[in-house]
Amino acid sequence: MPIVRTSPFVDLHVHAREPGQTHKETIQTACAAAKAGGFGAVTLMPNTAPVIDTPELVRFVLARAAGQPVTVYPAAAVTEGQRGEALTDFDALKRAGAAALSDDGLPIRDEALLRTALVRAKTVKLPILLHCEPETEDCERALFHVKQTGCPAHICHVSLASTVSVLRTARRQGADFTAETCPHYMTVKASGTMNPPLGTETDVEAVLDALCDGVIRCIATDHAPHTEAEKAPPNPLNGVIGLETALAVSLEALYHSGRMPAEGVFRLLGAFPASVLRVPVPGGMIEVDTDAEWTAEPDRFLSLSGNTPFPGLVLRGKVVSYGD
Ligand code: DOR
Ligand code: ZN
Ligand code: ZN
Repeated sequence: MPIVRTSPFVDLHVHAREPGQTHKETIQTACAAAKAGGFGAVTLMPNTAPVIDTPELVRFVLARAAGQPVTVYPAAAVTEGQRGEALTDFDALKRAGAAALSDDGLPIRDEALLRTALVRAKTVKLPILLHCEPETEDCERALFHVKQTGCPAHICHVSLASTVSVLRTARRQGADFTAETCPHYMTVKASGTMNPPLGTETDVEAVLDALCDGVIRCIATDHAPHTEAEKAPPNPLNGVIGLETALAVSLEALYHSGRMPAEGVFRLLGAFPASVLRVPVPGGMIEVDTDAEWTAEPDRFLSLSGNTPFPGLVLRGKVVSYGD
């Protein structure tokens, strides 16, 4: 059996829904799902209810994370209530334990505010994770400010060929940025509603090329649990879960397709995301059976929600042991 040992992975982008939406997920169930997926650390997004925008709320997240089997790195909001008006106190949030800053779900429209945020994030040495919408135009705008200020940014969930080409140009121009994509943007077999939405086959190819040539160096899940009722037509909430399928989908798209060795996929899931957060790769080792076949069945996930973009799909690759 093709068993490969590696360090546990680091997910830069998880919505654990606590506080306030624990009918979808909790920090505990998100951590259990993360561990099952091979992750040893997760960044939790702050768009909870209330939004994580104070040191007290950062401490609340960390308290809920205590004793969980994976390390939790809380992201705090860039702006109060993610309203895009007033910046939060980055320094105080960092001292409380925030590991990143993000208004994920909502782009920061005020350009002066975005610039100040980039400068302050650099000063306090916290990565700033940007949700760009509309993706390509907003990403181009953000990277313009990154170049002008000389302050780095991380671009969330890249899904389009046009965005990849913006990233490529910015990289050539020396812009200091990192970027992630998600497993559901790496295959035409994904389905469901999420933001950004699924692209075309051309977009998928461009995203895979970007992962191969280093323009995008992180795979993050954007694990976004919602209940069945919340995902029902005619107005389904945006988001799909991903912690328990990320490894298999990434292996299928990049390793089984012959694009890179399994170790290359592990770096995209582990070492590179860790470097964005400036944290060590998680300790211990996992063993991955790269060929193990299994079926993505919504009812069998440890996540509290079942809104997978791969229902019924036969996947290849899973974690078979979590050792030291
Ligand atoms: O699909 C999405 N779901 N996109 C976002 O930006 C937010 C996320 C969520 O919180 O459900
Ligand atoms: Zn987002
Ligand atoms: Zn998100």
